[in-house]
Amino acid sequence: MYRPHRRTPSSPITTSVHAGRHDFRSLGCHAAPIDLSTTYPFNDAAEATEALDALVSGDAEAGNPIYARLYNPTVARVERAVAEIEGAEACVAFSSGMAAITACILAASERGRHVVGVRPIYGTTDHLLSSGLLGVETTWTGPNGVSNAIRRDTGLVVLETPANPTLDLVDIAEVVRAAHGIPVMVDSTFATPILQQPLFHGATYSLHSATKFLSGHGDTMGGLICTSEAAAARLRQVRVATGALLHPMAAYLLLRSLPTLPMRVHQAQASAMEIAERLQAHRSVADVLYPGLSTCDPSGIVGRQMAGPGAVLSFRLRPPARHATSMTRAGDVPSDLYQAFFNELSMITPAVSLGSTDTLIQQPAALTHRILEGDVQDEHGITPDLFRLSVGIEDVEDIWADLSRGLEVFARRCEPSQRPLTLAPVMA
Ligand SMILES: Cc1ncc(COP(=O)(O)O)c(C=O)c1O
Repeated sequence: MYRPHRRTPSSPITTSVHAGRHDFRSLGCHAAPIDLSTTYPFNDAAEATEALDALVSGDAEAGNPIYARLYNPTVARVERAVAEIEGAEACVAFSSGMAAITACILAASERGRHVVGVRPIYGTTDHLLSSGLLGVETTWTGPNGVSNAIRRDTGLVVLETPANPTLDLVDIAEVVRAAHGIPVMVDSTFATPILQQPLFHGATYSLHSATKFLSGHGDTMGGLICTSEAAAARLRQVRVATGALLHPMAAYLLLRSLPTLPMRVHQAQASAMEIAERLQAHRSVADVLYPGLSTCDPSGIVGRQMAGPGAVLSFRLRPPARHATSMTRAGDVPSDLYQAFFNELSMITPAVSLGSTDTLIQQPAALTHRILEGDVQDEHGITPDLFRLSVGIEDVEDIWADLSRGLEVFARRCEPSQRPLTLAPVMA
């Protein structure tokens, strides 16, 4: 059985700085070369055919790249770098996180066209699996239902931890045990390789939307799958056939972002912990969902499976208690009150996505998870009062000043005198 490599003795901070750069001295460069070629000249037709055959069948490299859909050296460099940071044998890069998830599902469907999906999960992943777009059938369950959901034709178990947007944590090793040898794909986007390495807990695939923390500056889309060399070969075959390639410029930008990944994650995580605690104490906040709070991590995943709770949290807005009689449930709060909260934010950016240098906020029920059926939203608490905050690397006091201003305005706007009066019909 494939075992992932233990990291080299250097710390993840040092590995992130040097990964993908080991040949720079011999190349005589100090920044990664970018190769934008779409085709590559050959001198010997027989050698070219041999290289083509090797790449089409999933080899990581060959004597000649032949054509950019088969191989690109800048992309291969970032793949080697991320594999090293994650402690994996191999990594395969795609044009986006969704392209990576698609490739994983297609690669696994060779084994069976049934997928077990663990909810909650990112809205588009849920949609991709529920819609049947890829010709697979999905059984949805929670982490404890995996064993019962497995069928003879199950090819893949899909889960996300921490999960988007409720930050639910899943014990990867337990799901791997329950999967009885069926490959398990873990979307580890929220954790990054700095905080979690699913392969060490038995997962077959560790997947990242590189659009988030790995690229980290809101300017690059990409998807990455860390896995064994054998599983990577199949993923490369799918990539060659479907063409969902990471562009070499995106690979370059990603390589440029990796050295600062640990610092960005640690800085944002420290602020997220602080913000989560302050939100918990705020009168306009009903609930805070964050793996750093013991209430959200009853089985101690942080410290065992994750090196830290990460930099994304969600919270529920509620009218302060004294107004609870008129507005008690999420659906009862008029949307203009939520808009008033957004309007007051001047530094925090109202936007989807996460893992950027700046703090981002969004309302999952209205945006990232809007595509889900209403009952699925309700079952997982993805209601209009839920806000997801991706904490950036700004000074925590500036983040809090902005957020708490918005919360205060929300609280004030909830006061009965601020709402339009509904007059009782005058009795004649
Ligand atoms: C957890 C998670 N996985 C996958 C994706 C999809 O990634 P991309 O937008 O790069 O396709 C996202 C996007 O938000 C996400 O949050």
